Amino acid sequence: MKEKKKILIGTTGGIAVYKICDLARLFVKEGFSVKVMMSEKAAEFISPSVFQAIIHFPVYVSGLPCRDENGLDHLNLAHWPDIVVLAPATANTIGKIANGIADNLLTTVVLALPETTPLIVAPSMNVNMWENVFVKENIKRLKKRKNCYIVGPVKGSLAEGRKGRGRMAEPEEIYKITKRILGV
Ligand SMILES: Cc1cc2nc3c(=O)[nH]c(=O)nc-3n(C[C@H](O)[C@H](O)[C@H](O)COP(=O)(O)O)c2cc1C
Repeated sequence: MKEKKKILIGTTGGIAVYKICDLARLFVKEGFSVKVMMSEKAAEFISPSVFQAIIHFPVYVSGLPCRDENGLDHLNLAHWPDIVVLAPATANTIGKIANGIADNLLTTVVLALPETTPLIVAPSMNVNMWENVFVKENIKRLKKRKNCYIVGPVKGSLAEGRKGRGRMAEPEEIYKITKRILGV
């Protein structure tokens, strides 16, 4: 039997985090094994138990011990996935990863990934944040990593009521790109 592809979703404290439930559902429906790790801020926005109900796997939250029933810790978690999808990716987490800062579970796992593991980053933020010179620099730095794909953000209505580029790419788009990169 063909082995299921393994997808690790990393989700951070952006307003688009609720859309990641749909993304996780799409992956599960397709038959992928899905695990979710959340920043503490993401876990303030949406309960980890919502993801747990969708993916049927433990959800890892930064700040809490990272051990599953097999004793899997954060460094093993970095070797588990075939691909990592960081969505929504906040300016904060993008900045940390781009500068090699590993101060929570999520950033530690992303920095500990083998370079051969594709990393999809789907930023989501206010238009001024997206256009900020430091954020732009951080995105450039992320692109230096082998197998790093920046998806979006797209133009549209933003949560604060303005229009502009900053909206996270839609879950269906991220799903299609993930499948394309995995070649399935
Ligand atoms: C209601 C609310 C919505 C937010 N949405 C975003 C967002 O879409 N993008 C972003 O970069 N930061 C956003 N922030 C700010 C982040 O939550 C903040 O920078 C936080 O430190 C991010 O932590 P994390 O990257 O560890 O998840 C938002 C904050 C609040 C209170």
